[in-house]
Amino acid sequence: MRERTTIADIQAKKRARTKISMLTAYDKPSAEVCEEAGVDVILVGDSAANVIHGHETTLPITMEDMLLHARAVARARKRCLLVADMPFLSYQTSVADAVLSAGRFLKEGLADAVKLEGGKTVADTVRAIVDAGIPVMGHLGLTPQSVNQLSGYKVQGKDADRATAIVEGARALEEAGAFAIVLECVPHELAALVTAQVSVPTIGIGAGPACDGQVLVFHDLLGLGRGRTPRFVKRYAALMDVAVAAVQRFKADVEAGEFPGPEHGFAMDPEELKKLQALVD
Ligand code: KIV
Repeated sequence: MRERTTIADIQAKKRARTKISMLTAYDKPSAEVCEEAGVDVILVGDSAANVIHGHETTLPITMEDMLLHARAVARARKRCLLVADMPFLSYQTSVADAVLSAGRFLKEGLADAVKLEGGKTVADTVRAIVDAGIPVMGHLGLTPQSVNQLSGYKVQGKDADRATAIVEGARALEEAGAFAIVLECVPHELAALVTAQVSVPTIGIGAGPACDGQVLVFHDLLGLGRGRTPRFVKRYAALMDVAVAAVQRFKADVEAGEFPGPEHGFAMDPEELKKLQALVD
C-alpha cells in the first residue's frame, strides 16, 4: 500500500528524474479515479469555475465554492498529495488575507497545500504563507486569474524580455519557499530553462516535455464535455459520447416500458397485498 504522498516525495522525484503526475479533481468521484489510477497530486483547481460551474473565466469562483470542492475531494483522498487553488481575490488584497485564506484550505478544506498565481509580485505573500506552515505551489506563464490583463488566453513568454520575467518569477517563488511551480502555456524551451534553473519541481500544462511533471484538467483528459479543447490537451477517452449514449438508452427503455424490469423492483408479501386490497376496496 502506497503511503500518503508528501511534498518531500514530490521534490525527491525531481532529483531522481522521475516525472510527477498531477490531475484536477473537484468532487469525490473524480478524486477516487485519481486515487485508483495512482496519480501523485490532486489539484482542486479553480478551473472548477469553468468546468463545473460553466463560467467563462475562473474569476467568479469564491472561497466557499472552493472549500466545498476541496472537502468533497478530501473525503476520497487516501494517498495523493492534495493541493487547493486559492481563488481570485483570496490572496491579492493583503498578506494577512492571503495567510488566512490559505489556512482555511488546510483547516476547513483538508488540503495539504495551496496554489496561487504570479511571480515576483506575490513572492512576499508566498513567504508569509510558507512561514505560517502552509506549503505553496506557484503558478507562472498563463495565469488565468489575470486573463483580462493578459488580453486573453495566450501563450506567455514568447519574447526574451517576457521570458526573462518568467525565469525571474520562478527564482523569486523558489526563494520565497514555494515547493513546486506550475508552468502554463509557455514555449517548451522556456519551460526547459526554468526547470533547469530552479531546484523545485516544475509541473507543466502546455509547456512541453522538459518539465518535472505534467498536469491536465480531469474533464479534458476524459473528454467529458463538448467544445474546443486547447491544443496541449491529450484526450484519453470520449466519456461525453459514452454518457450521452447511455442516457439515450435509458430514455428509450423508459419510453418502451422496459425500465424498470422485475429485477429492479420490490414485491409485497402476497398476504400483506391481500390485506391491503381488502382495506382499499
Ligand atoms: O485550475 C486549474 O485547473 C489549474 C491547472 C490548469 C494547473 O490551475
